[in-house]
Amino acid sequence: MTKTGETRTATASRYRVAGRWQEVDDARTLPVVSPVDGSVTGSVREFTHAEIDEVFASAGAAQRAWAARPLTERADLLHRFADRLAESAGEIGDVLMMEIAKPAKDARDEVVRSADYLRHTAEDAKRIIGESQFSDSFPGQARNKLAVAHRVPLGTVLAIPPFNYPVNLAVSKIAPALATGNAVVLKPPSQGALSALMMCELAYDAGVPPEVLQVVTGRGSRIGDYLVRHSGVGLISFTGSSETGADLARKAGMVPLLLELGGKDPAIVLDDADLDDAAADIVAGAFSYSGQRCTAVKRVLVIDSVADELVAKITERTAKLTVGDPRDNAQITPLVDADAAAGAERLVHDAVAGGAVLALGGTRTGRLVRPTVVDHVTEDMELAWVEPFAPVLPVLRVGSAAEAVRLGNRSEYGLQAAVFTRDIDAAIQIAARLDVGTVQVNGRTARGPDHFPFVGTKASGMGTQGVKPSIEAMTRVKSLVVNLSGKDLDGTAASSRP
Ligand code: NAP
Ligand code: G3H
Repeated sequence: MTKTGETRTATASRYRVAGRWQEVDDARTLPVVSPVDGSVTGSVREFTHAEIDEVFASAGAAQRAWAARPLTERADLLHRFADRLAESAGEIGDVLMMEIAKPAKDARDEVVRSADYLRHTAEDAKRIIGESQFSDSFPGQARNKLAVAHRVPLGTVLAIPPFNYPVNLAVSKIAPALATGNAVVLKPPSQGALSALMMCELAYDAGVPPEVLQVVTGRGSRIGDYLVRHSGVGLISFTGSSETGADLARKAGMVPLLLELGGKDPAIVLDDADLDDAAADIVAGAFSYSGQRCTAVKRVLVIDSVADELVAKITERTAKLTVGDPRDNAQITPLVDADAAAGAERLVHDAVAGGAVLALGGTRTGRLVRPTVVDHVTEDMELAWVEPFAPVLPVLRVGSAAEAVRLGNRSEYGLQAAVFTRDIDAAIQIAARLDVGTVQVNGRTARGPDHFPFVGTKASGMGTQGVKPSIEAMTRVKSLVVNLSGKDLDGTAASSRP
């Protein structure tokens, strides 16, 4: 129970619409089935179109009052929300763990990380400052106009996070939106909806008005089109697959979009790299949360002369990963998407049939894919290009840094890349040639820390996130031009004005 005495989670029979609790007895329910053991973790309701209309109408109306509240007040509420989230990290983490089979510790860490994100955003939002300029800085203009530009909210942000970070990637949209005076309609992933609902109840408990942060549950494939085309949307912040993102962009019309999409991040290893460090980073980067991270290392591009040694080190470390139940903190856990498990297995089999060498793994039991390293993958194999979202790591051997760059850039994706070398000049040269949002030098690909700019090129996305970039993306510049009278204080024409 929250301090206000309300049940913390909405359920299929009890849910909020436009901020008010509704009781229902019909069958519009969606069970949330755990990939851990097949148990029903809970259920949520599929919103109707009429309810979605009601949600946007009340969010739009409440947004104006929310934006009018002092910024420090909104920031204070986010801090209170952060405190409650941190206090409930264990409780929410447990639900999250069962919904998406994330290892227990990682699930809890996701919630704590989200509280930190809220706090950082609350502080950064206070530092948004505009700019001013006189007209005479443009050729031929007198000093008779003063423009004051400041940032205003966009209205209602439609936030759609993916299953792999249902709390953190919801908060990374909610925090900058609310801090800057927007309302939010959150469409959580179906797998992850329960933890997202719990998280929002904590926001209300902290004092965030329920009309300003609303949750619409239901399958994206059924209600997604209606949501993204809704006239009440001021901006869509979407994280998920490139396919869904591209489809959404076609349908959304003239609405600003922030899209964080798929990736096939390469780890490029040069012949002078510290191979132990590189292997440790690559294994952590490829296999944490069983490879279900947009930023996972999804292919290794290694110079031939050190490939045998690197593959041996990667294989040795990967073989030590624990496989099993997230409740026991196993590192490799059942995949959320059963099709992804079958798809990963097929990609590996096809590559091996085409001449690649299985260094480790290659088997699965249901959703549980054993950590897999495939060596001697070549350009003609699908495994070199498809994002498996599974614990599968292909290794491509290359003759030179230039070839690594060519293969890096041949991907449809452009999220991140890693370069391992002791030669900082080479790292910088390679980084400059890679068409990706971020290049990590001697470190694994990763989004965090969360205030760093996070951006994808090509099919990996559109727009920049982070803390400050998200604050900017969720606001627009509004300019006030003060036309000066042209008179001096004594009423005479001024020769030089302020
Ligand atoms: P997804 O299937 O695209 O789903 C993402 C979200 O979109 C979910 O909330 C989903 O709801 C919703 N959705 C589905 N169809 C929709 C539609 N037609 N209109 C509007 N919303 C719709 O992706 P996922 O399987 O959850 O996540 C895995 C993918 O996300 C991977 O490709 C990964 O690389 C990418 N990802 C990228 C980043 C990044 O920051 N670049 C971060 C995380 C994940 P339902 O759950 O109800 O289907
Ligand atoms: O899955 C996509 C996330 O944005 C990745 O975040 O690099 O912290 O795991 P992460």
